[in-house]
Amino acid sequence: MTIERSSLPRVLFSLVIIGLLVFLAAQFVRPAIGNPPATAELAAPPEVKRVLRNSCYNCHSNETQLAWFDQVAPAYWIAARDVKMARSHLNFSEIAKLPAAQQKGLLWEAVNQAQLGAMPLPSYLALHPHARLSDADLAVLKNYLNPPSPAPAPDDKAKTAADEQYNHWIQASGTKLEVQLSPNGIAYPQDWKNWKAISTTDRFDNHTMRIIFGNDVAVRAIAEHRINPWPDGTIFAKSAWQQQPDADGNTRAGAFLQVEFMIKDSAKYASTRGWGYARWRGMDLKPYGKDAGFTAECVGCHNPVRHNDYVYTFPLEGLQ
Ligand code: HEC
Ligand code: HEC
Repeated sequence: MTIERSSLPRVLFSLVIIGLLVFLAAQFVRPAIGNPPATAELAAPPEVKRVLRNSCYNCHSNETQLAWFDQVAPAYWIAARDVKMARSHLNFSEIAKLPAAQQKGLLWEAVNQAQLGAMPLPSYLALHPHARLSDADLAVLKNYLNPPSPAPAPDDKAKTAADEQYNHWIQASGTKLEVQLSPNGIAYPQDWKNWKAISTTDRFDNHTMRIIFGNDVAVRAIAEHRINPWPDGTIFAKSAWQQQPDADGNTRAGAFLQVEFMIKDSAKYASTRGWGYARWRGMDLKPYGKDAGFTAECVGCHNPVRHNDYVYTFPLEGLQ
């Protein structure tokens, strides 16, 4: 069959009509989004809620409000899929029914995702620029999770106490300490102070300095570039000290605050994604956590770096 020249406009017209009909028919295929009642909304100060409402609630709550252009298929289908997935990860309208530690972990993950620029979804920001987080918005969220504390003042007594504590600490090394098990059954790794320092970090909001140590399996893995995933047997220790300025303005390690561990054993710790978590606090090394559920907090906050086998630290140059 040949199409005569004169009938071409007619064919084009029919195609446009067919396209329109398909488009109209598509509008009737509508997976429901729905806004069930917000039964357990996040409890947070109004300024925190304002930021989350503006940038996250459209997908991560039961208060989804679609713009008119999101109501039209196929955009509607993408929105419906995003909202469903987003709510299943994190729903601010239902978060308060989770245990406190898990809520905290989720909020940490949320702020991490926002800081990395992964959330709100970049594809969403293109059409909804109002949802972009400003630096001030991000600061509101970070302050909420990590309220800044005043820097410690130079204090000779605190300095002497910290030095005494440190001497005691050094003398104790080599003798086996009596330390209670972590609530999830992990025993205190006695010799971590002899491991190799892999990295250090400072935190200015709460004025602590931290040193991260790795056991010999970790150090070997670094040398052999086998760090994602880390091999079974790897252990990290992260120790934290209070920053203590002296009268000359130098910052020294003050009181010992805590040491925490991640122990890799893919089979044994499968329920916490392959790592056993434990933390001991203070000079008397009191195990952290009311029960084994405390690990939800650790896993939640390490989840944003799951593509890095849940480990934040990149080993210092030179060890590799
Ligand atoms: C356009 C919808 C949309 C908006 C707006 C949005 N998110 Fe998401 N979010 C998603 C989707 C979809 C997923 C699931 C992604 C996946 O599974 O790959 C998700 C996942 C997450 C996760 C879990 C990450 C993971 O991979 O486990 C966190 C945390 C998160 N979002 C935080 C936020 C925060 C904080 C905001 C606001 C600053 C925000 N989101 C805004 C759609 C959105
Ligand atoms: C608030 C978020 C958060 C929580 C909760 C958290 N961590 Fe971490 N963890 C981090 C960050 C960030 C680092 C990277 C080092 C740094 O910044 O000090 C880290 C580092 C570590 C390291 C060194 C290895 C690495 O991943 O870099 C260990 C060990 C560790 N954490 C153990 C724990 C244990 C045990 C718990 C639970 C009792 C826990 N963490 C809970 C954020 C968290």
